[in-house]
Amino acid sequence: MTLTFLLNGECVDAGGLPPTTTLLDWLRETRGLTGTKEGCNEGDCGACTVIVSDETGARPLNACILLLPQLQGKAVRTVEGIGGPDGGLHPVQQAMIDHHGSQCGFCTPGFIASMACAHMNGETDYDRALAGNLCRCTGYAPILRAARAAETAPVPDWMQDDPGFFLAEILSGGAEGRGAQSPPVSLHPGSTDDLARLYAAHPQATLIAGATDVGLWVTKQLRDLEMPIFLNACTDLQAVDINDTDIQLGAGLTIARLMHVIAPHHPSYAAMLRRYGSEQVRAAATLGGNIANGSPIGDNAPALIALGATLHLRHGDTRRAMPLEDFFLDYGKQDRAAGEFVEAISLPRQPDRLRCYKISKRFDQDISAVLGCFNITVEAGHVRAARIAFGGMAGVPKRAAHVEAALIGRPWTEATIDAAQSAWDQDFAPLSDMRASARYRLRVARNLLRRYFLEDQGTAISALEVRA
Ligand SMILES: Cc1cc2nc3c(=O)[nH]c(=O)nc-3n(C[C@H](O)[C@H](O)[C@H](O)COP(=O)(O)OP(=O)(O)OC[C@H]3O[C@@H](n4cnc5c(N)ncnc54)[C@H](O)[C@@H]3O)c2cc1C
Ligand code: FES
Ligand code: FES
Repeated sequence: MTLTFLLNGECVDAGGLPPTTTLLDWLRETRGLTGTKEGCNEGDCGACTVIVSDETGARPLNACILLLPQLQGKAVRTVEGIGGPDGGLHPVQQAMIDHHGSQCGFCTPGFIASMACAHMNGETDYDRALAGNLCRCTGYAPILRAARAAETAPVPDWMQDDPGFFLAEILSGGAEGRGAQSPPVSLHPGSTDDLARLYAAHPQATLIAGATDVGLWVTKQLRDLEMPIFLNACTDLQAVDINDTDIQLGAGLTIARLMHVIAPHHPSYAAMLRRYGSEQVRAAATLGGNIANGSPIGDNAPALIALGATLHLRHGDTRRAMPLEDFFLDYGKQDRAAGEFVEAISLPRQPDRLRCYKISKRFDQDISAVLGCFNITVEAGHVRAARIAFGGMAGVPKRAAHVEAALIGRPWTEATIDAAQSAWDQDFAPLSDMRASARYRLRVARNLLRRYFLEDQGTAISALEVRA
C-alpha cells in the first residue's frame, strides 16, 4: 500500500510497514526524530504532540495513538520542523526561553507543538489549547506567559507551506491495501459507498476512525488488528446537513467539529464537549467511534439520547435507523451486525432546553464518572415532556424513565422534584469503581435534576466555584 505524506516539508513514503505502526514509533525509531517524546503512550500527556494539516486546517494530534495510514496525504510537523530551516527559532520557542517555560524539558516539544499550532490558528484560549499537555516540573504559569508573549508575532513562512500540499493521487492511496491479487493487509476506502462495499465483503475487519480507542488497543493491549479499515479518507462520512426539521451528523465528524456545529443549537452540549479529552483528543476522536464503542461512559450518547436522536446504520446498500437508546443492548453489546457501520446520527430541531452536566475528578482531560443530560419541556408551569439520559449510571447509556414519568404532567416546582426522589432508585443501580461510588453517583444524579431546575429558574451556578 502506498503511504505518502509530508514530514517537516519533505515528501516521504512510509508504505510497506504494518498498518498499526504508530507515528511516534516511526518518527523515533525509523526517522531518528527523537524530539517527539513518549510519556504515557495513551493520549493523556501530550508529550508526543505533532501538528497535522490537511485541507480542513492544522490541528495538534497525539502521535502515540496516531497510526501511519491515518496520515495518507496529510502534512506532519514535528518539533524538529517547527524551528526554521536555517536553525532560527519559532516565536513560541523563543518565548519559552525568554519566560523560563522549560525545566527538565521532557514535556517541552509537545508544548511547543501545541503552542505553534494554536499560534498558527490564532487560538488564544491557552487553558483550552494546552490542557492536553502535562508538565511535571516547570509549572504552567511561565508556559502560559510564553504563549501569550508570542501571540502577536507573525506566523513564520515555513509554517505556512504545508497547506499547499494535498495531491489528489496521494489522497486516494487505493482502496485495497495490496492490490486485487493478494488478501488486503488494510483497506483505505475513499468514500462511504466504498466503505460500505468493503466492510460488507470483509465483516471481520476492524474499523479505525480517530483511533483514540483503537490506538490504545495497539499500544497498551498489544493487540494485532485484523485487516484494519481506515475511515479518514471517507470525507463524505464527515458531512453535516441542517434543514428546517433535522440536524444530520456524519459518523466521521470529529468531536472538535461537532462542538462548533452543535454550539448554536445546544450550547450546553458544546460546553460539555469542551471538556471531552483534550484539544488533541477532540481533534482525532469521532462521533461514530464514540457511539459505536458502546461505552457506558461515552459523553455523546446521553446528550443525543436526551435530544431524541436517531442512529443510522448501514450494511452494504441496506440502511436501517433506530432511536439511539435502542442501540445499547447491554454492557459491551450493541445492536450492530457484522459488516454494519454507523453512518450518521440525526436529531430533530427543537427549542433548546438541553443541559449537560459532566461530573469528573478533573475539569479537563478526564472520563466522566457521571454525565447527566436533561431536556425538559415546560408549558404553562407544568412539565409537558422530559427526556433525561445518563452515562456512568448503568452498563449502557440509559434514560431515567421512571424519573421522567414522575415529572411529566406535574407542576414544574421543587416539590415535584422532591416527589420524584424514589424514582431514581427504580431507574439506576450504579456500580462503585475507581471513578465514584454507587452512593455518590445516585446522589449526584438526583442533585443534577435540582441543579437543572434551579438554573431554569435563573439561579446562576458555577461548577468551578467552590463554597464552604
Ligand atoms: C486521552 C483520552 C481522553 C478521552 N476522553 C474522553 C472523554 O472525555 N469522553 C469520552 O466520551 N471519550 C473519551 N475518550 C475515548 C475516545 O475518545 C472515544 O471513545 C472516541 O470518540 C472514539 O472515537 P474514535 O474515532 O477515536 O474511534 P476509534 O478508536 O477509531 O474506534 C472506536 C471503536 O469504534 C469503531 N468504529 C469507529 N467508527 C465507526 C463507525 N463509523 N461505525 C462503526 N464502528 C466504528 C471501531 O472499530 C472501534 O471499535 C478519550 C480517549 C483518550 C485516549
Ligand atoms: S505519549 Fe502521552 S499523549 Fe502520547
Ligand atoms: S519541564 Fe519537566 S515535565 Fe515539563
